[in-house]
This record gives sequence, structure tokens and C-alpha cells, in this order.
Amino acid sequence: MQTVHTIAALREQVARWREAGESVALVPTMGNLHRGHLRLVEQARGHARRVVATVFVNPLQFGEGEDFGRYPRTLAEDQARLETAQCDLLFAPDEAQIYPDGRDDLSRVVAPRAFAELEGAHRPGHFDGVATVVSILFNLVQPDIALFGEKDYQQLQLIRRMVADLHMPISIVGVATEREDDGLALSSRNQYLGPEQRRKAPALHAALSAVAAGLRGGRRDFEALCREQFEALAGQGFEPQYVAIRRPDLRPSEAGDTEFVVLAAAVLGTTRLIDNLRAEAV
Ligand code: PAF
Repeated sequence: MQTVHTIAALREQVARWREAGESVALVPTMGNLHRGHLRLVEQARGHARRVVATVFVNPLQFGEGEDFGRYPRTLAEDQARLETAQCDLLFAPDEAQIYPDGRDDLSRVVAPRAFAELEGAHRPGHFDGVATVVSILFNLVQPDIALFGEKDYQQLQLIRRMVADLHMPISIVGVATEREDDGLALSSRNQYLGPEQRRKAPALHAALSAVAAGLRGGRRDFEALCREQFEALAGQGFEPQYVAIRRPDLRPSEAGDTEFVVLAAAVLGTTRLIDNLRAEAV
């Protein structure tokens, strides 16, 4: 696997593949790669001849007081993991490559209003930052296909929407969340958890599972269902931010629906965890 740090080197390599008629898949990441990311690379290999991964901790998507400064930066380990996963090219730019004229007065992609809810409500500006950097990465790599984890469910829907709205000729593939044996969704942020918090953390997945079981069992009192699990999380020492039931396209659920996604975010100590679960009810 080759690692490049400049846009010029990235474009040169991708152009060579294009000249040879080879298809390209993109796996954008912020690094500190775990099994979930490697699964994206593995799946990407089934979709395209060449796989490009990017590692860039994007300052634009972090709010004030969030963890941009302490976000784990582990490039050497990431390179080794990507090599093992048979990634073809790693693009690991610094901020000056991506935002050469700074970030103060940058052209941005603005997320649609619907994304001001849930994550958007708790992380103002986050989705504009994600949409902007992903569109920059799409412009630089010009992939045929790009893969994103379903753990960031709203992000995945946002990217799908952006690609449709801006007529980007890129297929977006969502890849199932990888979990620890106790249900905790894999996340680079899990390593912030101390031992006692790590023990508690699977309660977030358990709360989602309880809501999903309620839906499968025929409950349609959405608010009460979510409130119960919000309170259960609070009782276990989390600071829950939301527990919500939506349609898979994130529109509000209605009593006659049979397909749902349950989403939650909660802070445990200084770690903000998010997760989601799909539920189908007959
Ligand atoms: O999901 C992530 O790691 C990031 O939000 C992404 C898509 C790489 C954009 O910075």
C-alpha cells in the first residue's frame, strides 16, 4: 500500500488507475482504525478494483469544547491495518492540503434542515463540516463508490442526500455496525472510556434493543417507549441526549409503520457515545 500526503500525489495515482480503466472505491475515515473501518475496506474491495482510504481528522466537524484536540491520531498503526486489509492507497493530508486558505471564509456545503435534529441539535455545525469535507474528498478522489458505517446513521443519510442533491455520480454504500461481544458499537471514542465506564457502556445498546423489542412487540407509544429508556440510561449514570424512533429515512414514525430505526446519544463521563438499531415489526 502506498501512502500519500499531498493532493498532487493522490491525483497522480488515481489518474494512472483511471487510464488503465480501473474502478475506485473510497473509504473516508478520521483514523484510529478499528475492525469497523477495516470491514469498510474489505467491502470496498468487493465493489471496485482499487480502494483508497483517507485519514483526516476534520476540524470543521468538531464544535467548541468537543474532542478535536484529543482525538486519537495513530497514523503508523492505521497504515499497518490498512496494509493488512489490502487497501491500495492511503491519503493522509494535513489541514493545509484540505483547507489551504484557512477555514474562516470557506465555501461550505450546508446540510438540509432535516439534519438539524438529533445529532444536528446537539452538535450544531457538525453536519455542515461533514458534508463539506466529504464533498472535498469526493472531488479529490472522484471515486465510483464510497462506503460509510451505519453506526453514524444520520451521517450516512446526509451523504446519500448530498450526493443526490448535488448530482454527484457516486454510489453510497452503508456497512453494518461492528460490535463488541457485549453489544457496544465499535468507535474510536471507546478508548476514552475508563474500565468502569467501559463496563457500563453496553447499556446504550441495551436501551436501543429494549425500544426495538417494544416496537416488535407492537408498542406504538413512541414517546413513552423512548422516555423509559432515556430514564433508564440516566439512572445508570449516563447523561442521555436523545432516544428517538424514526422511519429508516429519518422522517417521524407513525403508528402504522413497520420499519423503524431507533437512535440514541448519551455522554458517559467525558465520552459521547452514539448508536442505532433497525427494527422491523410485522
Ligand atoms: O465518519 C467519519 O469518520 C467522519 O465523519 C468522515 C466521514 C470521515 C468525515 O470526516
